[in-house]
Amino acid sequence: MRLGLTKEGKMWLGVLLVLLLCSSLEGQENSFTINSVHMVILPKQEVQNGENLTLQCIVDISTTSHVRPQHQLLFYKNDEQFYNVSSMKSTESYFIPQARVHNAGIYKCTVILNNKVKTTSEYEVMVRGVSSPRVTLDKKEAIEGGVVIVNCSVPNEKAPVHFIVEKVELDKKAIKQKREKNSQHQNFVTLDFTVEEQDRLIYFLCQASIVSGRHVETSATTRSELVTVRESFSNPQFHVHPEGVIIEGDQLHIKCSIQVTPMVQAFPEIIIQRDKTIVGHSKQGNKATYSVMATMKENGNYTCKVETSQISKVSSIVVNITELFPKPKLESSATHLDEDDSLNLWCSVPHTVDFAIQKGDMNVSQAQNFTKIVSKWDSGNYTCIAGLGKVIKKSNEVLITVCEMLSRPRIFYDFKSEVIKGQTIEVHCQSINGTTPISYHLLKASNIVENYTVGSNEPAVFKDNPTEDTEYQCLADNCHSSPAVISEPLVVKVIAPVVEVKLAILNNKQVESGDDLVLRCFVNNASGPITYKFYREEDVRPFHVKISNETQVMWYKSPAGTEQGGQYYCTASNRANAAKNIPQSNLLTVKVFLAPWKKGVIAVVVIAVIIAILAVGARYYFWKKAKAKQMPVEMSRPAAPLLTSNNEKMPGSSTEANRPYGYDEDIGNHETNPVKEKKEPLTLDVEYTEVEVNSLEPHEGLGKKGTETVYSEIRKANPELTLTRQTGAQLLGLLERS
Ligand SMILES: *[C@@H]1O[C@H](CO)[C@@H](O)[C@H](O)[C@H]1NC(C)=O
Ligand SMILES: *[C@@H]1O[C@H](CO)[C@@H](O)[C@H](O)[C@H]1NC(C)=O
Ligand SMILES: *[C@@H]1O[C@H](CO)[C@@H](O)[C@H](O)[C@H]1NC(C)=O
Ligand SMILES: *[C@@H]1O[C@H](CO)[C@@H](O)[C@H](O)[C@H]1NC(C)=O
Ligand SMILES: *[C@@H]1O[C@H](CO)[C@@H](O)[C@H](O)[C@H]1NC(C)=O
Ligand SMILES: *[C@@H]1O[C@H](CO)[C@@H](O)[C@H](O)[C@H]1NC(C)=O
Ligand SMILES: *[C@@H]1O[C@H](CO)[C@@H](O)[C@H](O)[C@H]1NC(C)=O
Ligand SMILES: *[C@@H]1O[C@H](CO)[C@@H](O)[C@H](O)[C@H]1NC(C)=O
Ligand SMILES: *[C@@H]1O[C@H](CO)[C@@H](O)[C@H](O)[C@H]1NC(C)=O
Ligand SMILES: *[C@@H]1O[C@H](CO)[C@@H](O)[C@H](O)[C@H]1NC(C)=O
Ligand SMILES: *[C@@H]1O[C@H](CO)[C@@H](O)[C@H](O)[C@H]1NC(C)=O
Ligand SMILES: *[C@@H]1O[C@H](CO)[C@@H](O)[C@H](O)[C@H]1NC(C)=O
Repeated sequence: MRLGLTKEGKMWLGVLLVLLLCSSLEGQENSFTINSVHMVILPKQEVQNGENLTLQCIVDISTTSHVRPQHQLLFYKNDEQFYNVSSMKSTESYFIPQARVHNAGIYKCTVILNNKVKTTSEYEVMVRGVSSPRVTLDKKEAIEGGVVIVNCSVPNEKAPVHFIVEKVELDKKAIKQKREKNSQHQNFVTLDFTVEEQDRLIYFLCQASIVSGRHVETSATTRSELVTVRESFSNPQFHVHPEGVIIEGDQLHIKCSIQVTPMVQAFPEIIIQRDKTIVGHSKQGNKATYSVMATMKENGNYTCKVETSQISKVSSIVVNITELFPKPKLESSATHLDEDDSLNLWCSVPHTVDFAIQKGDMNVSQAQNFTKIVSKWDSGNYTCIAGLGKVIKKSNEVLITVCEMLSRPRIFYDFKSEVIKGQTIEVHCQSINGTTPISYHLLKASNIVENYTVGSNEPAVFKDNPTEDTEYQCLADNCHSSPAVISEPLVVKVIAPVVEVKLAILNNKQVESGDDLVLRCFVNNASGPITYKFYREEDVRPFHVKISNETQVMWYKSPAGTEQGGQYYCTASNRANAAKNIPQSNLLTVKVFLAPWKKGVIAVVVIAVIIAILAVGARYYFWKKAKAKQMPVEMSRPAAPLLTSNNEKMPGSSTEANRPYGYDEDIGNHETNPVKEKKEPLTLDVEYTEVEVNSLEPHEGLGKKGTETVYSEIRKANPELTLTRQTGAQLLGLLERS
């Protein structure tokens, strides 16, 4: 600038400024415009971590004024203002020394001139890479099982930072442990690493990565100093005594020992294991021992484990014990024997030893062989013991089963009295002696109907439902070689109750008075003795009682009189019928009528009387005619009105003809009870009765099956006939027809 060169110049400038200000205050004569504004990022928009970074904002302004106007420049990162400056220069800069990841972002700048504002487009600045981390350790020397604290930091960067820390064994260059951690608020992490038993010289590696926009920036890997590891205790060592060949019966000592570093306070735990079994252990001291008499079961892979909370060291040894003599072998002549068979057991070992044969824990023989005639008590497990010095060996087990023969089975059933047909009975079979399980077979009429196996000497129970007298037997069988044993026969008497009773008349024909009347009361297949009782319907007490083993009984009445007509029934029962449950037969209606010759005699007598009356009448008539000849017609009239008036009634004008058919009970009684009609044999009706019976004969032929049938037939019969009853006039009509 040329300003301030001379005092005179300064003064002129002052005057000019005042003029300028006055002119602008007066009416802003000068005009300004922002042509453009843009940014320049130096050295470029993408820089490496640690490079210097310059952000330039360049403005192009046009003005009518002679002087460049004062304007303001605002710098933004991610839309947040971080720097402003008032300037008259066209270029303003913002300098970032050693750019870090957190400097990356979207930059822009804004120019303000009076009330005019203009902003640049956005410029993305990227910072590649992360500055190298620093790794520090809390110690340079560690003990197995101890802890090393690793501090990894990126001092120039800002959180959040993702750290990866790895432990490396120097000799093997192998990564032994890798841990990762995100630090949200600090630019460092501290991690604990346990020192393991195999570690000798170790170091740590650290790498940091930071998310920047859409990218992840990663640092180089930094290596820590070396850490020297010291053992806390040595690897365990086995000492086996005796050395060399170990023979069964020797005293075997197995010792496991370690050397412990003096600076370690607590002793680790020492454990001796044979396969998975712990056989010795110690929590204090530097050794553990296992001492035992050597047997074959001490053979195996022994492991010694030394353990602290953090580390465990293991070593193993195989102990091989030589057998003194092999395991004895017990053999038997047979394993399943019948009672009184001979059992032969022998024990063998290819060596000279002492023998004992045991049953359970009892010695049964002190020799190599054992022979016995067995009873059921000899069943059991047998073993053989072979001994030489302190070495005793047990053989395999031999299970001997002695089968006791079955005793003859008892057979019985649960009913004291007879069995009523339809009842279920329980037949029991029991063999009191004999080895179980026992299988029973129930025989019914010599056929096996059911099988049952019982695991004890308790009875087997069979359920059955006999319908007639039945003979049962039992077969029992078990392990014994003899054939099955059969029981005594058991006869079960079954009585069938009377279920149905029927009453019938024996002779199908009409019973004439004077003939035999035979009634038959019969039952279904019921058991005897059966009590039969015959009743007349109106009587409470039976008129005939008979006890019989037969399924039917007869009652005879000879000769039958008309007083035997009526309704009959019978009952039958045996001891299987409860008192309340005595069945009763059908009702049977019996009719007894007069014999035709008797009717004939009566008819002849009646006709003779009529002829006699007519003869007397005729004679009287002729005598009257001879006496007075003027009135011959009137003499015949008295008979004619009688006939016509009676004939008129027949079509059904009488009161009885008007009765409904439902009333036929009464009709039937009269019809089927000719006995009652007998009350009037000496009156004029006697003749009519005789005639009536003749005309009804066809109906009686239909009605002989039973009372009900008779009734129904009568209902269907011609009303003319059924209604032609004992009314005198009607009978007279019938008489004329005959
Ligand atoms: C970065 O800037 C510093 C001054 O802030 C300077 O000393 C240094 O030399 C610059 N580095 C480079 C590579 O220009
Ligand atoms: C510019 O920065 C100063 C402080 O650095 C601040 O006080 C001022 O408000 C800023 N101006 C604008 C326009 O933001
Ligand atoms: C880890 O190191 C950093 C610097 O390297 C330090 O600021 C911080 O305090 C350290 N952290 C711990 C827990 O020692
Ligand atoms: C003995 O057992 C250990 C641990 O189980 C095993 O590592 C080793 O191989 C075994 N030795 C033999 C000879 O089986
Ligand atoms: C044990 O020793 C015997 C000889 O003494 C040998 O035959 C056998 O193979 C050995 N067994 C094991 C498991 O080493
Ligand atoms: C059984 O025989 C063995 C071997 O001979 C012997 O050691 C044991 O004492 C005997 N046991 C009894 C109860 O007699
Ligand atoms: C024992 O029995 C076996 C087989 O019956 C026979 O060979 C052996 O000679 C017997 N031994 C003795 C000592 O009786
Ligand atoms: C015999 O031994 C077997 C198995 O060892 C066992 O199941 C059985 O119950 C034993 N029998 C007797 C009678 O002790
Ligand atoms: C069952 O055996 C005992 C002795 O074991 C004997 O006294 C009894 O008579 C036997 N009973 C029958 C029914 O065989
Ligand atoms: C009962 O057992 C016998 C022989 O074991 C067999 O033949 C028969 O079929 C069996 N009967 C029934 C009803 O199970
Ligand atoms: C009655 O028993 C006999 C023989 O017991 C038989 O033949 C007849 O069929 C049985 N009748 C009825 C109706 O059960
Ligand atoms: C019925 O039969 C039984 C035997 O079956 C006999 O004892 C009894 O005397 C007979 N009764 C009559 C009345 O015949």
